[in-house]
Amino acid sequence: MQQEFKPFEEKGIEINKQYKSFDSLVIKKPFDKKETDAYTKCRIVLMNGLENASNITLHEMARQTTDYNIKKALSMIRRSEQQQQVAINWLNPADQTVLETTITFEQVAVDLTANVARNEPNLEAKKVYDFGLLEDFDHLLRYSYLLKMLEGGEATILLQGKTELKDGRPTWDEHRHPYDTMMQHYQRTDGIKTKLNALTVTAAEQQTMLYYREHGNAYKDNLARQLYAEIAEIEEQHVTQYECLFDASWTPLERLCLIQVNEAYNYFSCMQTETDDRIRKIWEEFYYMELEHLRIAGDLLKNMEGNDIHSLIPYTISPLIVFEPNKEYINQVIRETVNWRPYDMRFVNRDQLPSDWASFAYEEQVRGSGFPSQIITDRAKREWKMAA
Ligand SMILES: [Fe+2]
Ligand SMILES: [Fe+2]
Ligand SMILES: [Fe+2]
Ligand SMILES: [Fe+2]
Repeated sequence: MQQEFKPFEEKGIEINKQYKSFDSLVIKKPFDKKETDAYTKCRIVLMNGLENASNITLHEMARQTTDYNIKKALSMIRRSEQQQQVAINWLNPADQTVLETTITFEQVAVDLTANVARNEPNLEAKKVYDFGLLEDFDHLLRYSYLLKMLEGGEATILLQGKTELKDGRPTWDEHRHPYDTMMQHYQRTDGIKTKLNALTVTAAEQQTMLYYREHGNAYKDNLARQLYAEIAEIEEQHVTQYECLFDASWTPLERLCLIQVNEAYNYFSCMQTETDDRIRKIWEEFYYMELEHLRIAGDLLKNMEGNDIHSLIPYTISPLIVFEPNKEYINQVIRETVNWRPYDMRFVNRDQLPSDWASFAYEEQVRGSGFPSQIITDRAKREWKMAA
């Protein structure tokens, strides 16, 4: 396995040659939900999220310029991004339930964020990842109860023993006033890894948030619908806290370059770590597509803003994003940070919060007759004697 990504070393696939017919775009054999490695599924969820984030951001950029050279280039790249997204997302099989997919979404949130946190050079940003990590870790447990309750499924089987199922920061303790989701941003002088980490995790969380909002109505059971609504709101908090990490001084074209290099970096990471040969070929092809998106972005940056892409992106980026078990790391984060709460753009221990902490009042406002995550936990303990 190569340990470093070198974004300028190889040539990509020419953009006009990237567009596919629908019969080649839709890969004939989706993955087998029982046989496929849990981390292969995680990579599929992650890359689907990155593609959607790229697509949405490039639309937003196009709406903020009247320059047709930029609009045309963005639409060329975007067409390719949307095909990549469909190809990847259609790898999910039709017999996979919304809840089974949800378990993979939270496994991504746990093991991706842990990998990012472990390799984050900016110590303030690392705290934000550690903090968010324990909340998604807890979602995994609450959804596992729902899976058992509605479908008789076992999340431990889906997780294949790679990710633990136990309490993190309890979901009902995660509700916060919007002001308490504000975080300090990194600086322009921070290294590339810090910038790519924030893009990657924000894209994954955004996809999770949208998935819960779109699919939380798939179940008849009212408690299931409420649990999705509750956790979707926490994911909204997560997107807010992670996007706060961005240094917003980038020009739109600098952002475009960072988004494209991040896609290439993530596909390269997937390619280096994928255990399923068939899927690895997809990562490889899409990696070469991204190198071309990056080249187009770099040309725009030079022609429109007179800026050299090498002032922004180094020749070597490491380490790669790797999906692997992080049990020990997560247990350490639980021990050290489970009582952290965000206050005034930093983390303090729960017992240090002032009595007028905005989130106390917010929590009361949204509690109603009880948080769904708490109700399902009580039920799990009662009915199945599950540890919680
Ligand atoms: Fe892409
Ligand atoms: Fe989550
Ligand atoms: Fe999350
Ligand atoms: Fe791209």
